[in-house]
Amino acid sequence: MVTIIKTTWELTDLRALEKGPVGFVPTMGNLHEGHISLLEQALDENDVVYFSIFVNPKQFGPKDDFSKYPRTLSDDVTQIQNCEARFPGKNVVVFCPADPQEVFPLDYTQTVTVPKLNSFLEGAQRPGHFDGVTTVVFRLFELVEPTKAYFGLKDYQQYLVIKQMVKDLALPVEIIGMPIKRGPAGLALSSRNQYLTSEQREESLILIQSLKKVAGLIEGKRTNLRKAKREIDILLLDSKWNYLEMRDAENLSDDLTKSKSITLLGVYQIGTTRLLDNLQLEIQ
Ligand code: PAJ
Repeated sequence: MVTIIKTTWELTDLRALEKGPVGFVPTMGNLHEGHISLLEQALDENDVVYFSIFVNPKQFGPKDDFSKYPRTLSDDVTQIQNCEARFPGKNVVVFCPADPQEVFPLDYTQTVTVPKLNSFLEGAQRPGHFDGVTTVVFRLFELVEPTKAYFGLKDYQQYLVIKQMVKDLALPVEIIGMPIKRGPAGLALSSRNQYLTSEQREESLILIQSLKKVAGLIEGKRTNLRKAKREIDILLLDSKWNYLEMRDAENLSDDLTKSKSITLLGVYQIGTTRLLDNLQLEIQ
């Protein structure tokens, strides 16, 4: 069964009746298969899953257009219902507050911050973004009290920031990282892809192809990192890159001397559309 609720009091009333484990998938809606893969995993592992659809004003900067973020609630609900139908006997509660004040009352004063991790890569490109993310995720955790919460590794830095927040605040929730869902040609699924023309879609493949090229040069060997760095420097001559970097996969440090696994993270910008992706690899 899918239950749709729009107010915080209904959410907390319903949640109070739930005694067993609860899975949670926070989203901003405009759903695609990437989001649905999180819901599937959550339904696989929990009898009850809360799924939030909330375009969080706090994570948008002055240059990001909060008002233009695509809002497609009825299509989102259809996708959730179709997914839930594959899990007979399980329940999904969709929390889609009509008004941001349901989540952040006017007198709400808290900001949750994860220092350092929030300051480079995406944090440097979008100042304040991760504080907005951690503040809303903390607030939603407070309301939903999930046992497990599911996040996509597509937003790898976001995933690490949230894991660090949970650790810092000793929150009783397990964070599950889910693999990146991609289109047939390899482009990571994203709500932003719909802004691309067919020509730009073709061009967007530069992102995953570059990550794969650099990973191919490394071949799992630390001794090849210098060669990979030279390739990155060449790729970066293309000014459409916001960044393209090799970082430690555990803490995003740029010191790779002791890293066992690394992540290649890139943002390639086509027009005003910032396409974000990453690729992980083990090294020896
Ligand atoms: P949103 O962009 O809607 O994404 C919701 C979740 O879906 C995130 O955990 C994201 O990493 C995951 N996701 C998006 N595309 C994916 C893909 N191609 N494969 C796998 N997972 C994918 O991320 C946010 O919303 C917000 O910052 C939020 C955490 C909800 C806080 O407002």
